[in-house]
Amino acid sequence: MNFKQIISEKLNQALGQQVSNEKLEQLIEKPKDLARGDYAFPTFFLAKQFHQAPQHIAADVVKKLNADGFEKIEAVGPYINFFIQRDQFTSRIIKQILTQADFGKNQHGAGKNIVIDLSSPNIAKPMSMGHLRSTVIGEAISKIAQANGYHTIKINFLGDWGTQFGLMIASYKRWGNDQVINANPVDELVKLYVRINNEAQTKPELKDEGRHWFKKLEDGDPEATKLWSWFKEVSLKEFQTIYDRLGVTFDSMNGESFYNDKMEPVVQLLADKGLLTKSQGAEIVDLPKLLPDANFPIAMIKRSDGATQYITRDLASAIYRQDHYHFDKALYVVGAEQKDHFEQMKAVLRLAGDGWADNIEHIGFGLITMNGKKMSTRKGNIVPLVDVLDAAHKLAAEQIAKKNPDLQNAEQIAEEVGTGAVIFNDLQNDRNLAIDFNLEDIVQFEGDTGPYVQYTHVRAMSILRKAAQPVDSTQEIRLADSEAWGIVAKLSEYGSAIQRAWQLREPSIIAKYLLNLAREFNSYYANTKILVADMNLNSRLALVKSVADVLASGLKLLGVAAPNKM
Ligand code: ARG
Repeated sequence: MNFKQIISEKLNQALGQQVSNEKLEQLIEKPKDLARGDYAFPTFFLAKQFHQAPQHIAADVVKKLNADGFEKIEAVGPYINFFIQRDQFTSRIIKQILTQADFGKNQHGAGKNIVIDLSSPNIAKPMSMGHLRSTVIGEAISKIAQANGYHTIKINFLGDWGTQFGLMIASYKRWGNDQVINANPVDELVKLYVRINNEAQTKPELKDEGRHWFKKLEDGDPEATKLWSWFKEVSLKEFQTIYDRLGVTFDSMNGESFYNDKMEPVVQLLADKGLLTKSQGAEIVDLPKLLPDANFPIAMIKRSDGATQYITRDLASAIYRQDHYHFDKALYVVGAEQKDHFEQMKAVLRLAGDGWADNIEHIGFGLITMNGKKMSTRKGNIVPLVDVLDAAHKLAAEQIAKKNPDLQNAEQIAEEVGTGAVIFNDLQNDRNLAIDFNLEDIVQFEGDTGPYVQYTHVRAMSILRKAAQPVDSTQEIRLADSEAWGIVAKLSEYGSAIQRAWQLREPSIIAKYLLNLAREFNSYYANTKILVADMNLNSRLALVKSVADVLASGLKLLGVAAPNKM
């Protein structure tokens, strides 16, 4: 619990539980002037409800407050000022951190499932910047949900179905060369796809060929299936190298193709609910007509040639996920440009389902560019992510070579720092912001970077290694200096950062929290002699260990490694 929570609970008690904890917590202020205490509560807002002048309420409540944990609590005019018993509080927080492996985490979501749709690249195409952001953000949100007690199911909804695969097979049958493809799978498949699209402009019969092959694929024709499986396999292999470097795994790889045989029931359901209309041979949900006040376009469920659509597969997968996971929430971590698609999907599900459509959330995000350029997994006019990770690795290795030339495992640590820098950079801003970055800046060991947080953790670990004695968490903790208080206050906020990060689906809250904690610690480090053999040595070491533990825990939530040396 942080201070605001502790104080609001006390107020709630003193007020005979007539005002909710949440309401009280929102009203608590942090005065600039320390003479007004560490926290202050303005009673104006209660005057109406209690039919009393604010200063009377203040005086009255102070008498009833349980002052445990506070040096003093005083009423000054309409304010109640709280002065924290710092020694006692410090001791409590530090002991909690050192003895509880799950410090800051909570069980609010126990027994509830969160389905997270993340990454979801399209096979036979390079993984785009959007898929990469989705991967990194989705992974962090999953870990943050777990820290709030939820069970998560991460689903990579591969784009592995659709008429384009018919065209690709047709193109392969005409111009494909196994050797060339095997040498450079995704690039070559893209070329084949581009080629048939170009040629089809003058030879429309090629489109028919594509349709013909897609029909075969849908019907399970062995040759079509074999080719499609091969395309998928070579693509997945390429994607996997990225997932490995980012340290991301999935609980399900059920992509669009998985729903090939699960769409008829959806079409049937829509028909049964009277939502399906025929329009020029196609089957549609006429949202403009069904929901005239909303601004939805028509949802195309089945084209006149019988082909299902992206939205059809998303409807089928949403229903499948609801049936199989009974989710508390289903999150779709997908770029902001697909907002309308998810709104439309939810609108259809709301009309067809029994309320659970409102548990679906689109978790959008903005564009991220490097020096104004987009990134992807493949060469082209976009920067391949592999190159970005390699360059980050190299920059990290150079800094390590300068700072710590004798470091063992330097290669592996350079990878953890370089990749960590890229991931942290992706997560430290509000996800909806568009951001442009420069690689040199984000791999710096100083500044608002992942390596800065990692380096602070390393600094703390190195102090602990140098100390002649291990930390004894059973001893009394005594920390007099005011710098230590800044750290303790931050440490106590870890739990609420975890809660807020989940409530807002915003990993940046954890990233910013870590930067602040690291800054507090570094200013303490600059001003305090830690390794002095006096009475408080164990207390200072306990503080250092607490910082190391929380930094490592927070980095882990973001999917960033916390090396012990670098
Ligand atoms: N494969 C899609 C694309 O690249 C993203 C899929 C997102 N997830 C979903 N359930 N629609 O645009």
